[in-house]
Amino acid sequence: MTKKILVGYATWSGVTHEVANVIASQFNHAGFQTDIVNLKENQDISTYDAFILGTSIHASHPMKIFVEFIKKNHPWLIRKPTALFAVCANMFEDTPENRKETLTWLHDSLKDVPEIPFLDIGLFGGAVLTEGADYENLNPVIKMVIRSMKKSIVEKMKKDDFRDWDKIKSWTESIITTIKKTS
Ligand SMILES: Cc1cc2nc3c(=O)[nH]c(=O)nc-3n(C[C@H](O)[C@H](O)[C@H](O)COP(=O)(O)O)c2cc1C
Repeated sequence: MTKKILVGYATWSGVTHEVANVIASQFNHAGFQTDIVNLKENQDISTYDAFILGTSIHASHPMKIFVEFIKKNHPWLIRKPTALFAVCANMFEDTPENRKETLTWLHDSLKDVPEIPFLDIGLFGGAVLTEGADYENLNPVIKMVIRSMKKSIVEKMKKDDFRDWDKIKSWTESIITTIKKTS
C-alpha cells in the first residue's frame, strides 16, 4: 500500500513552507502520497506512516507551533519514522560550530518532550522573503522586522537566499531511502 507522509512546516515569511514543498514533491516522485500541512492547523495525524517536520528559527528558538505539535503528538511520533528540519540564518554557512549551535536550540526547546528517535535533523540555510501569501498574512510589525532584517542581510552578504537546494534534495533522498526500508 502507498505510504502516506505528512510534511509539516512552521513558517513566518514562507521560506520553510517552500522547503517543505520541495521535500514533499520529492516524496511524491518516489511513490509516496504526501500532504503538506501548516503545523498551526489542527490535523488528524493518525492516517500517516511517517512525518517530516520543519521549522524556521527566530531569536534562537524554533517556532512554538512546531514544538507544540511535537509535544502534543509525541505518543504517535514515537511509533512512526519522523525526521525534523530547521531553516535559519545560522546555517547560512554550514560549519560544525553552526550545526552544533542550531542543534542545541532545537534540543533545548524539546527538552520537556520524552525522547523521540528522529531519523535525522536536517539543518538548512534560510532566506528572507518579503512577498508571497505567507508573508502577506503576517502582521505589519513582523513584516517590518523581516524587511529590516532583509536589508541588513543584503547589505552584509549581498544576497538574501541561502537555501542550498542540492543539499535539501540529498537530505530528502536519504530520508526517503530510510523510510522505504521501514515496514
Ligand atoms: C526576527 C527574526 C529573527 C531571527 N532570528 C534568528 C535566529 O535567532 N537564528 C537564526 O539562525 N536565524 C534567525 N532568523 C532567520 C530565519 O530563521 C530565516 O530567515 C528563515 O529562513 C525564515 O524562514 P520562514 O520564512 O520560514 O520563517 C531570524 C529571522 C527573523 C526575521
